[in-house]
Amino acid sequence: MTRKRIVSGMRPTGKLHLGNLHGALANWVDLQNSGEYDCFYFVADWHALTSDYGNTEQIREYALGMAMDWLSVGLDPGKSTLFIQSRIQEHAELFLLLSMITPLPWLERNPTYKEMKSELADRDLSTFGFLGYPVLQAADIIIYKAYGVPVGVDQLPHIELTREIARRFNFFYREIFPIPEPLLTNVPKLLGTDGRKMSKSYENSIYISDRADVLKGKVESMFTDPQRMRRRDPGRPELCNVFSFHGIYSSEADVQEISRECRQAGIGCTDCKRRLAARIGEAMMPVHDRLAYYQNHVNEVEEIMTEGTLRATGEARATMQEVREALKI
Ligand code: TRP
Ligand code: SF4
Repeated sequence: MTRKRIVSGMRPTGKLHLGNLHGALANWVDLQNSGEYDCFYFVADWHALTSDYGNTEQIREYALGMAMDWLSVGLDPGKSTLFIQSRIQEHAELFLLLSMITPLPWLERNPTYKEMKSELADRDLSTFGFLGYPVLQAADIIIYKAYGVPVGVDQLPHIELTREIARRFNFFYREIFPIPEPLLTNVPKLLGTDGRKMSKSYENSIYISDRADVLKGKVESMFTDPQRMRRRDPGRPELCNVFSFHGIYSSEADVQEISRECRQAGIGCTDCKRRLAARIGEAMMPVHDRLAYYQNHVNEVEEIMTEGTLRATGEARATMQEVREALKI
């Protein structure tokens, strides 16, 4: 039986944090381990260029670092195909061809485009590449004839565009591409230490690679229920980010106890955080062991990515053969 193909990518913009882990990566690992899917996961380094084209100094280092983070949290090259986008020129060729059939208004009305443009106002994003971001993403996905694309809700408009572009291609030329489904990730609401969205640029992130001491400091600095000013004030765990993290890292019984005790001011935030830091630290121990291993075996990581790239290239080439024939080009 052939397993259903799923494809997803991540931009290499620096070390991965717990928001990335629980927002996407953990789901990638689960999909991989379910055994039901043929998983293709790639480093979207060309996508990183769409906004960071002005500084490409660290992009290779980030790509390799990201691969190490992936391997450390359990992506397994024996089960998944792990690769680097920019090493497969066929993505660029399909991007070019799809750009011919993509109406500009589809791109201009993309909500993610407008949002990111205003969010990253310090950069000039009035570029062709940035507008065309979803076309490249569509190429990434359909070149592997993906059945599904695991993503967070923020990416839904992009997947919708991918579907429209694939339909349009099939309509003009030949039914080559399956229409991919978004596989929505159930994302727990984890915020950064300052209560804003966890993001590298806010300096509020807890990184996968943060060792116990750094981790402890960051957890101590986390915002809690803003109305719980003094130790004797009862707290509202449902409004506390520390509590959300307990939901992931602590046992059901502990979560219940903390919830109850917090409400009656039976536990103080300092203790609550100390417990959290310990739980995260335990969960990260095997991850850090693997990370240390890969940091000492960088060649092995390179080989893994090269091998995955080779496998993906075979698939991409086969599709492009069909595409060129369909276009009579
Ligand atoms: N746009 C995605 C993000 O920012 C990254 C990405 C690029 C991607 N190509 C993809 C995701 C293809 C899924 C499939 O997270
Ligand atoms: Fe948050 Fe824990 Fe403090 Fe309650 S006791 S407000 S859950 S940190």
